[in-house]
Amino acid sequence: MVSAVIVENKLPGPGAAARAQGNERHEPLITVRGLAKSYGGSVALDRVDFDVHKGEFLTLLGPSGSGKTTLLGLIAGITLPSEGRIELAGSDISRVPPERRDIGVVFQNYALFPHMTVRDNIAFPLRFRKIDRQERAARILQALELVRLDHLADRYPSELSGGQQQRVALARALIFDPAILLMDEPLSALDKKLREHMKIELRQIQQRLNLTIVYVTHDQDEALAMSSRIAVMRDGAIQQIGSPEEIYERPNSRFVADFVGDANLLDSEIVTAQNGMLHLTLAGSKFRVLARQPLDVAATGAKATVLIRPEHVLIGAAARSLSACFTGQIVSSSYEGNARRFEIDVEGTLLRARTQGVFSDHVPQPGETIDLGWSDHHAHLVDIHAQ
Ligand SMILES: Nc1ncnc2c1ncn2[C@@H]1O[C@H](COP(=O)(O)OP(=O)(O)O)[C@@H](O)[C@H]1O
Ligand SMILES: [Mg+2]
Repeated sequence: MVSAVIVENKLPGPGAAARAQGNERHEPLITVRGLAKSYGGSVALDRVDFDVHKGEFLTLLGPSGSGKTTLLGLIAGITLPSEGRIELAGSDISRVPPERRDIGVVFQNYALFPHMTVRDNIAFPLRFRKIDRQERAARILQALELVRLDHLADRYPSELSGGQQQRVALARALIFDPAILLMDEPLSALDKKLREHMKIELRQIQQRLNLTIVYVTHDQDEALAMSSRIAVMRDGAIQQIGSPEEIYERPNSRFVADFVGDANLLDSEIVTAQNGMLHLTLAGSKFRVLARQPLDVAATGAKATVLIRPEHVLIGAAARSLSACFTGQIVSSSYEGNARRFEIDVEGTLLRARTQGVFSDHVPQPGETIDLGWSDHHAHLVDIHAQ
């Protein structure tokens, strides 16, 4: 269990003023406007706008090179912007040096001091702040308890596991009670099981302390599980920002649909548009998708990209009562323990189905013909484009 002591006795630190302000006015804690960074002629970050509210866990998610670390470095003050501004609780901090920004940072590689004990590593940020001996000792104890390392306070980093080292880095970043915590791929050096555990622990700490976190990852599962909101980045820009549900269920582009989760993306001709629904065809059979109003009504003859997640593709008898129902041939079948995955060829279009159903007598095999389908509400219109 995570210690609750630090919540109840939370000491007012330099971050308290900024936090109180951000809270009172219900204004964003961080405001980023037109923020850009170029290196020579190449654009690493291309005029980005977004807000972060108090208590939010905002994740920057994107492939390698999409600008995540650049954006985090700009907020931290390690990198200076080419254009644009960053405000913290209403004050422009774009040119404020990192140590005066009231922001805690945790990186992937921990960056602990090898010659210092856990206690001294955690206490390090307090050296630069005028804090009396008694308060210093109280804070160190709280920070140690928060990350459950009070029994290892006198060890050196080399005597700790990866997960424990990462907890030291977290405690060190939180000890001066920063207004915001920035984390750049903090779990990526840990093995899968530990990562799963730390994911839950970090989210618990964030919620208990009502921390504001901007978190970087290229791991979609991490982003979906931890975030209040996700900003999906591509080529230095934010492609979409929204709740995990919005990003997963209603992606605004082929890129987001494909990057976040497993996706069937169908390119299909629009036959008619009626009553707010677009009617499309696949292999001679019809299916429908909800149109985006009012734009798509004139779209007859254009092509639509429609997303259906593999877990929403039903197969066999269950598919036959659905309004979108097709027949295809199984190309592959794989067992995943908690589910089974099929690839099914529908007249040249490959569809993936992921089913957790139990096959009592016969598991469909490659080469067999099978029915498949989905409910209308599981089809999501991603994009419309001319033929
Ligand atoms: N110090 C730098 N000098 C030159 N180019 C850089 C520098 N830092 C980052 N870049 C470039 O900016 C782009 C974004 O990089 P980065 O923010 O590190 O992406 P991510 O963290 O999403 O992998 C990349 O094309 C990268 O090569
Ligand atoms: Mg990076």
